[in-house]
Amino acid sequence: MVGLIACAGKSTRLFPITKFLSKQLLPLYDKPLIYYPISMLINAGITEIAIITNEENYELYQKQLGDGSDYGIKLKYFMDHNPMGTVCSFKVAKDFIKGQKVCFVLGDNFFYGEQFDEELKKAVNNCNGAYVFGYPVKNPTAFGVADFDKSGNVTKLVEKPKDPPSNMAVTGIYVYDEKCLEYAEKCPLSPRGEYEVTDLNNMYLENKQLKLVKLSKKNYWLDAGNSEGLFKASEYVRKIIKKKKIQIGHLDEVAYNAGLISKEKLKQNYEVLKKTDYGKYLEKYLK
Ligand code: G1P
Repeated sequence: MVGLIACAGKSTRLFPITKFLSKQLLPLYDKPLIYYPISMLINAGITEIAIITNEENYELYQKQLGDGSDYGIKLKYFMDHNPMGTVCSFKVAKDFIKGQKVCFVLGDNFFYGEQFDEELKKAVNNCNGAYVFGYPVKNPTAFGVADFDKSGNVTKLVEKPKDPPSNMAVTGIYVYDEKCLEYAEKCPLSPRGEYEVTDLNNMYLENKQLKLVKLSKKNYWLDAGNSEGLFKASEYVRKIIKKKKIQIGHLDEVAYNAGLISKEKLKQNYEVLKKTDYGKYLEKYLK
């Protein structure tokens, strides 16, 4: 399975900060936001990842992350010249995902939790059809939302409903089998003028190939694509680091623990990072 991270959007919900800079390059506490989805994919066992960017940020992503060898992974970059919704990522990275199963992540979504990690691994390892992950929210109108019948089966997914059929938001991580590209190419333009991931998911649902995994409130999820969400997620990461003395989205640690880089390589990475707490955190692995 390959990973696909959508970072091509115009990030208008973070203007003026993101007038020229992609939101996934902004800091979420002590590291760029893009570190979190990459770490999540590595933790789920995925090491070939495509990052979809817009024209302005194409080179910046490559400067930040390189070819992935610092983390023992393969990173590819694709430029979306005219971003028109999440599903464009599939079309832009067509050659990369052809015939592959895909874990698709919206680069501004922040996830943390044991149940989430386990469910994601399960979906990645047993992928057949599509898996989406639901999370109860207070403001469902801001998201894709699941509609259920009386027995609790999903009947459809609705994008940003004015009158939400439930409070179960569909979060921004999706696990798809090889049919995703075919469905992505069939997605119609939505009323708001975008190619929506919700429409792609509804195609799987119509073919009885979609499973919704409900994440409990013990997990933490939020959309960090606006200033409030980015701040809350930063606060959350800071709290975990200070209280539990563990890290979240620490790409160097994640790569080392996954056995993707050697101790020598970790040491090399550390040399560049050692003036920060992010870098010093690696010292425990270098003794
Ligand atoms: C996107 C999806 C939506 C999903 C949300 C999660 O919305 O279209 O279905 O619930 O991400 O963050 P966007 O944030 O692009 O408006």
